[in-house]
Amino acid sequence: GVNLKGKSFLTLLDFTSDEIRYLLDISKQVKVERRAGTPTNRFAGKTLAIIFEKRSTRTRTAFETAFGEEGGHAVFLSKDDIHLGVKEDLKDTARVLGRMFDAIAFRGFKQETVETLAAWSGVPVYNGLTDLYHPTQILADFLTIEESLGSLKGRKLVFIGDSRNNMANSLMIGSAKMGLHFIACGPKSLHTDPAIVDKCKEIARTSGATIEVTEDIDLAVKNADAIYTDVWASMGEEAKLQERIALLKPFQVNRELMERTGRSDTIFLHCLPAVKGNEVTEEVFESPASRVFEEAENRKHTIKAVMIATLL
Ligand code: CP
Ligand code: NVA
Repeated sequence: GVNLKGKSFLTLLDFTSDEIRYLLDISKQVKVERRAGTPTNRFAGKTLAIIFEKRSTRTRTAFETAFGEEGGHAVFLSKDDIHLGVKEDLKDTARVLGRMFDAIAFRGFKQETVETLAAWSGVPVYNGLTDLYHPTQILADFLTIEESLGSLKGRKLVFIGDSRNNMANSLMIGSAKMGLHFIACGPKSLHTDPAIVDKCKEIARTSGATIEVTEDIDLAVKNADAIYTDVWASMGEEAKLQERIALLKPFQVNRELMERTGRSDTIFLHCLPAVKGNEVTEEVFESPASRVFEEAENRKHTIKAVMIATLL
């Protein structure tokens, strides 16, 4: 059987398809419990540090409420509250936090920071988004796809837009692991890092997944089960927004683009927050195809599952 006790959650590259399956199954179970109002107390006496260098609505509240609902105590610390990479070596901060807390959730810029926290704290560390990856989001996205479409394997998932960002990277890895047909579609200058694409193609050989990167919108969206997009300028890239708008305008998810799938049952996904009028129109965002708020709710259940699997 699967055993993830003590393990950090830094990137989906570190997890097998069975382990991802296991996390999705726990997510479904805790979602049922939450909906039924079943009292649970799995984290009684435990503490979680939530250290965020960047803003967050969903990820922070998912960690905080999931931990609290299980009787644990979560402490939120922004970069202005603690000595994070300033006045103190990160390795030292990590070792101190490891003695104070049972687990650490981190959101920030460098993947290296979350990896250093995991290497030195001695407790499970969860990646709540870095410039490179957003692995907990993928669990929520995949749970939403399963709930909407019944299964993951063989589904055609298309990410359209800034295909070089953390969401595109993590969706590609998750798809490679779980046997989806994944296409990242965007302008050439924003195509996914070839090192990540190669790694995913390698993983895909054993899972039955297919991985593609293209500029061709028609080829990408044709017969898609799910269309996914994200902001055109990620946190930390605000200065690039005007340039991105010019570059990405043709890749906006609007009604015409949804119709180019040739299907009427394609679902629309977005990690949120969304900039309506840029990467997606208000019309698609509010349409029956949109699953964005189910996705947002599933952040809580999937993050709770990760903590249950690694802490108990
Ligand atoms: N999807 C997501 O990570 O949202 P937040 O930035 O609000 O946490
Ligand atoms: N790509 C976005 C995702 C936000 C959840 C960002 O990094 O800002």
